[in-house]
Amino acid sequence: MQSKKAPLLAPSLLSADFARLNDEVREVESAGADWLHLDIMDGHFVPNITAGPLLVQALRPLTKLPLDCHLMVSEPEKWIVPFAKAGADIITIHAEATKQLSRLLTEIRGHGIKAGVSINPATPLTAIEKNLDEVDLVLIMSVHPGFGGQKFIESSISKVTRLADVRKDRPFLIEIDGGIQPDKVEELVEAGVDVFVAGSSVFSQKNRAKAVAELKKWKH
Ligand code: DX5
Ligand code: ZN
Repeated sequence: MQSKKAPLLAPSLLSADFARLNDEVREVESAGADWLHLDIMDGHFVPNITAGPLLVQALRPLTKLPLDCHLMVSEPEKWIVPFAKAGADIITIHAEATKQLSRLLTEIRGHGIKAGVSINPATPLTAIEKNLDEVDLVLIMSVHPGFGGQKFIESSISKVTRLADVRKDRPFLIEIDGGIQPDKVEELVEAGVDVFVAGSSVFSQKNRAKAVAELKKWKH
C-alpha cells in the first residue's frame, strides 16, 4: 500500500475541563497534539453557547499550537476581524451560515491566516464546490454541530471520499469533526482525511496523553 502522510490531531477543548484549561492545553500539547480545535457556538446557529475571541486571546500565549477556530455562528462576517485579532491561525466558517461565502473566505485569507469552510451532515458537497479554490481547509461535520460526545454519522465517510476525489491537485486539507474514536482513524485516513478533531475521545479519558497516543497510533 502506498504510504500516506500522517494525519494531524486537533483535540477539541469543548470536552475539556474549563476550570483547568491551561493544564488541559499543556497536557495535550506535550502528548503530541498538532492543533487545538476551538468550538465557537452562538446559541443561534447551533443550540449551545461556548466562548468568543476572549478565549482565543487567553489561550494564545499558553501554546505554540495552531488555534483552529471552528465558528458555528450566524453572521460570521461580524466575527472574522475579532478572531483574527485575537490570534486565530485558522478560521472556519459554515457554508449554511452565509450567502457571502466567497467574500468571507477571501477576507479571512487577507488577515494572513488559513480559511476553512465547513458543512453540516445534511449539506451536500455541491454547496461548496465553487469555493474549493478559495479554501485551505474543508471541515466535514460527522455529527450535527452543537455538542460533544455524539455518535459518528457513517455517511460522512463517503462524503470524504468524494471530496478527496474532486480535490485533485488543490492543496486544501480535509478535516473531520464529530464522534471520532481511535478505531475509525485508519478507515478515514484511507478515505482522505488529513486532520482529525477529537473532543470526548481525548478529554473523557483520565489520562489525556494516553488518549492522544491512541488516536495517533498510526504513526508508530
Ligand atoms: C461539535 C463540535 C466538535 C465537538 C466534537 O459541534 O464541532 O468539535 O467538540 O466532539 P466529539 O469528538 O466528542 O464528537
Ligand atoms: Zn468543531
